[in-house]
Amino acid sequence: MIKQTLFSIPLLALAMAQDVSLIPYPRDVYFQNGSFVFSAETSIRYDSRLKNESTLLAAELKRLTGSETRSASEEMKIFFHSEVTLDLDESSTLKPGSYTMTVTPEGVKILGKDPAGVFWGTQTLLQLLPAKTPMETKTADIPALVIKDEPEYGWRGMLLDCGRHFFPLEDLKKFIDQMAFHKLNVLHWHLTEDQGWRIEIKKYPKLTSVGAYRDSTPPYGKRLGDDGKRYGGFYTQDQVKDLVAYAAARHITIVPEIEMPGHAAAAIAAYPELGNTDIPGYAPKVMTRWGVHPYIFAPKEETFTFLENVLTEVCDLFPSTYIHIGGDEAPKDQWKASPFAQQVMKAEGLKDENELQSYFIRRIEKFLASKNRSLVGWDEIQEGGLPKTATMMVWRDVNWAHHALDKGNNVVMAPNAFAYLDHYQHPEAKELAKGAEFEAIGGFLTVDTLYNYDPAAIARNPEEKKRILGVQAQLWTEYMKDWKKVEYMAFPRIAALAEIAWVPAERKIYGSFRKRLEGVMSFYDARGINRAVPDNAVK
Ligand code: ACM
Repeated sequence: MIKQTLFSIPLLALAMAQDVSLIPYPRDVYFQNGSFVFSAETSIRYDSRLKNESTLLAAELKRLTGSETRSASEEMKIFFHSEVTLDLDESSTLKPGSYTMTVTPEGVKILGKDPAGVFWGTQTLLQLLPAKTPMETKTADIPALVIKDEPEYGWRGMLLDCGRHFFPLEDLKKFIDQMAFHKLNVLHWHLTEDQGWRIEIKKYPKLTSVGAYRDSTPPYGKRLGDDGKRYGGFYTQDQVKDLVAYAAARHITIVPEIEMPGHAAAAIAAYPELGNTDIPGYAPKVMTRWGVHPYIFAPKEETFTFLENVLTEVCDLFPSTYIHIGGDEAPKDQWKASPFAQQVMKAEGLKDENELQSYFIRRIEKFLASKNRSLVGWDEIQEGGLPKTATMMVWRDVNWAHHALDKGNNVVMAPNAFAYLDHYQHPEAKELAKGAEFEAIGGFLTVDTLYNYDPAAIARNPEEKKRILGVQAQLWTEYMKDWKKVEYMAFPRIAALAEIAWVPAERKIYGSFRKRLEGVMSFYDARGINRAVPDNAVK
């Protein structure tokens, strides 16, 4: 049910009439008579605590109008003919990240509960302005309105896998800009994989000199093939700091993921002593095929020291409270075959290898807690008992969430059936008819399937709903060799993600979203994004 406005007119129906292409759609929109005329003369007045938000908005407006946007803090009593005001209202009882925006013929005022709220408000304003830069007309009318907006979830995430393929920092920044445009606020940065370790760790230089490079990669269309080309790359710590700061300015938290105990072949190839050296045929290498691989860390003190040292550098680089330690797809064959691993199980009273994995994760959780950080892991981390403070990221059956919710833990919903953007968005045959480079891992996820997913559907009561921190889509990049392909898989499905993360499920209307998507896609096009064309027509 759509809540009735002050004027008892259904919001979304009005939105469609007024033709504003906002995604995510704000909580409440009250249209009024008249409009504000935006022009190159429009300047920004800001509370001095909002200099960052003002600077970012000014840069966007300059791109739009082609001329410098003037700005001044409130203390400087400068007169502007036409202005956007950025201010804070800390007494607001709405959630963090909320804001109100008032557009009258006299000007635009964005009032945030916090700087993040102001920033999300500026993104709404940008979506109300023309897509094409520089603006083709000298002025643009923004309808007079009042928006009261607040996010449904605090975790509005996107995973980007830089392990399978490596992408330049500039592409990542461009992606962060687009996440911000849609009010997404968590970039889950998947940095280590069997096929490549991508983050410089000063104490262990071989992680990158050895672990960041593989000898070959399967070409598109040949999953068991080899292109025979050395491939790799990594982010230096200076680059990581640069990206973290770039994201933070846009109120996006980067949550780093360092995989353990599985998906660790590249790390073990760099430091073979960290693996299960006592098994027959032990010969780790950076993997050249996709899939799940047997090389997993050995439960040795030496391994824990290594992982703690790595995580110490990671915590120094990433201010995020949450640190993701992977935990998925760790085959237990090597632990079964390793006399040493079996000895650890016996000494620690662990009844099987799943309990050994939990022992492993618990030790890491304790270490992260000593640094005031919180562990996040894929849903396998509960298989041998879930650590008390861990957040579980659900990627398999959504019902796995109940295991965590039953124990009082928090969850983030990232299910492969609804939120994996490495799946086909059009029927496979149709994609492959365009060329082998359109190959995807499999699966089928249309814009409307993602849109219709409700992250809170597994909650059995309001208390459980509160422990669903949010929702995240995944860009696993086995079949995304370059940035153009990443964009093709991400856009426009990212818009559906943004709306389910921001808008309460009971307010979503697919027909309205699909119509607004047309307008939003014109922004993607103006920004040169290699988006897909969604199959489903506007109804
Ligand atoms: C995953 O897709 N293995 C989390």
